[in-house]
Amino acid sequence: MSEIEWLHYGRYLHERLKGKPTQYITGRQEFYGREFRVTSDVLIPRPETEHVVETALAVARNAWRILDIGTGSGALAVTLQIETGAAVWGTDISPAALSVAAGNSTRLGAHVEFVACDLAEAVGPGAVDLIVANPPYVPLGHKQGLQREVRDWEPHVALFGGERGFEFYDRIVADAPRVLRPGGWLIMELGFGTHEHVARLVRDWAGGRIEPDLSGIPRVIAARRPG
Ligand SMILES: C[S@@+](CC[C@H](N)C(=O)[O-])C[C@H]1O[C@@H](n2cnc3c(N)ncnc32)[C@H](O)[C@@H]1O
Repeated sequence: MSEIEWLHYGRYLHERLKGKPTQYITGRQEFYGREFRVTSDVLIPRPETEHVVETALAVARNAWRILDIGTGSGALAVTLQIETGAAVWGTDISPAALSVAAGNSTRLGAHVEFVACDLAEAVGPGAVDLIVANPPYVPLGHKQGLQREVRDWEPHVALFGGERGFEFYDRIVADAPRVLRPGGWLIMELGFGTHEHVARLVRDWAGGRIEPDLSGIPRVIAARRPG
């Protein structure tokens, strides 16, 4: 390596030793076969979240208006827009995350509209056929037990879901009937230990199903707005 390359290598090694995730050093992470740019403003997309894409494509392939709540890097919104050709919106409370998502969308040739707002508050009644979300779901009390790569480097706004990790599920399920057309689907990633609570939230919905991940852990819930 040249002298300058050694200097960069030394700096990256130093950052990694301090716990900075490799993806924030290289600035990229693969998701569903595409390369996404990531910065420390966004959660690093996880392979488990690909199950949300698979479930969406299995149950709602014909959805033509899709909303991704808490889009982060845009991994779900961009992937579903390219895979389905639907009109897709992505919301996030973090303007910095939305700027990363917009960059990913443009670079990958997707057409997603990004909106800064609290969950789905900027979305009109009956506006979409499918909502996807991977909400923050780590219980606040689990903070110290997290890997330091996650706890010290990933944005806390992307991680923590209140005392028990249920806060965003409660709020999304309460508002989803307003935003979804009748019969529209809500598909969410499940945090460890949340599936019973979330299943209760949608017990009056139709077509409810829970999909496990490759470790057999309940990972995705899908349900249809009744009516
Ligand atoms: C677990 S990350 C998911 C990111 C991305 N969808 C993924 O799966 O990789 C949760 C995202 O929700 C966003 N978020 C947190 N609170 C929010 C709120 N009240 N309204 C909208 N987005 C929110 C965070 O900024 C973060 O980008």
